[in-house]
Parts: sequence; C-alpha cells; structure tokens
Amino acid sequence: MTTLGLFDSGLGGLSVLRAVRAALPAADLVYLGDSAHVPYGPRPLAEVCRFARAIARFLQDQGARLIVVACNAASAAALSALRQAPEFAGLPFVGMEPAVKPAAETTRSGVVGVLATPAAFQGELYASVVERFAQGVIVLPQVCPGLVQQIEAGAVDTPATERMLRGWVEPMLAQGIDALVLGCTHYPFVIPLLNRICGPGVRVIDPAPAVARQAARMWAAHGFGTPTDAAPGRLTYYTTGSVAAFAQNVARLGLERAEVRSGVWRAGRVTAA
Ligand code: DGL
Repeated sequence: MTTLGLFDSGLGGLSVLRAVRAALPAADLVYLGDSAHVPYGPRPLAEVCRFARAIARFLQDQGARLIVVACNAASAAALSALRQAPEFAGLPFVGMEPAVKPAAETTRSGVVGVLATPAAFQGELYASVVERFAQGVIVLPQVCPGLVQQIEAGAVDTPATERMLRGWVEPMLAQGIDALVLGCTHYPFVIPLLNRICGPGVRVIDPAPAVARQAARMWAAHGFGTPTDAAPGRLTYYTTGSVAAFAQNVARLGLERAEVRSGVWRAGRVTAA
C-alpha cells in the first residue's frame, strides 16, 4: 500500500493521525514527532520552516506520497514553501489551518475564541482565514504558553493544566464566545477539560476530522487508494527525542501502539538511526 507521511513538533500531530487512520484505514502511515525541538510555537517562523523542509525530505525518503503537516505552527511557517519547493514537485501537502470558518458559520453570539501558539498566529494563514471567513464576527486570539509542554508531559487532566486553561478561557467566556477553535494539534488532548470549563453552550472545534477528509480526498484524487480499502495499513512512528518516552506517551494518550524508531538530526537533516 502507498505511504502517507505526517509530522509535528511532538505528540500533537497524533490527534490528526488518529483521524487520518479512521479516514484511510488501508494507507501505510509514517509519523515523525520532532521531540528534539518541541515546542515549535515560540520559535521564529524561518527556523520552523527549516525543520519542516528537512522533515518533509525525511518522510519522502521513507516513501511518503502525500504529507500531512499535522502541526499548525509548521503549516503557518512552511506550507506554501513546501508546496513551491522544487525538491517536492508532485508531492501533495495537506496542512492545518485554524478552523475559524466553521466557528464563524455557526456562532450565534458572534464571538469566537481561538487558542493557538505564537507561530500559528503569525504569518499569512491565520490572517487570511480571519479575513476570508470571519467578517462581522469578533475573533478573540489567545496564546497558551506552556500548554504544549504540559501535554508532552502527559498532564492532560491535572489541576495545574486546568488552572492554566481557566486563565485563558474564562475571560473569553466572559466576552460571550460560543465556539472555541483549537489552533494547535496538541490541544485536542485537553478537550475533556475544555468541555468541563466551557460547558455545553460552547462548541470546541478540533479541525482534525476535516483535515483527514481533505487528505482522503487528495489520496483518492491521486489514485493512491480509496477510503473504502479496508486492510489495515502499517503504522510506524519516528521521534527525534527519546523512543521510550514517545512510546510511553502513545500508550498514555490511548493511541494506537506501533513500533517507535529513532530519527536523528545531523547537519540540518533527519536520518533514520
Ligand atoms: N502541535 C503543534 C501545532 O499545531 C506544535 C506546537 C508547538 O510545538 O509549539 O502548532
């Protein structure tokens, strides 16, 4: 079967992988978590772009015929560069964009919140979705310093994480949001906590299912297979950090278990150890 590659700064993209696995069960998946460099969010876009290009190259070397940039920060920093790079000619990329559109379309209060990292709010992608889809809607952007690290540490439902989330979300609730967009692929792992904080009147939007549907459409359009192919494809994880810690986190987050291999950064490139 044909291989689909995904990457993120760490574990976050696994929230997307889960949806892609459901949408394309027969595809072989290769996932790279760049745990050596997590978090991406506070880094300059140019640096994140360098990481993304090297990782896309690595996934291409592993046989990926389509790549899902399962990271909002990397999508903001690198999606257009990846699509234009001569070395990736003919390789389709699917990226994350903040799900402002479904939020703006369904809000009744006219106020929506977006949680994301600084990198995701920079660049053209965020500005363009707000400009295109949120006319007449108040969009409240909120960065969440330290939240990615909490999730990487497995603290998805602890009093400390709840305190952090309340500090960001309660002021938005006071301003009347009825939709909360998750603009970082790590954040879906705290949806149970967010639902508890926000209550039933706020729709918390994880863009992963829509991204997975888009990946499945492109997969079929390129003739790589169809969503109805049922045989379970292979799944392989790579991490540029600790293999043992990655495997432990996959289990802790209740995600599909598979072999975890080591990817190593050398002179600006990633290679399989
Ligand atoms: N999960 C990533 C994102 O969607 C990366 C966050 C980070 O590493 O700061 O933005």
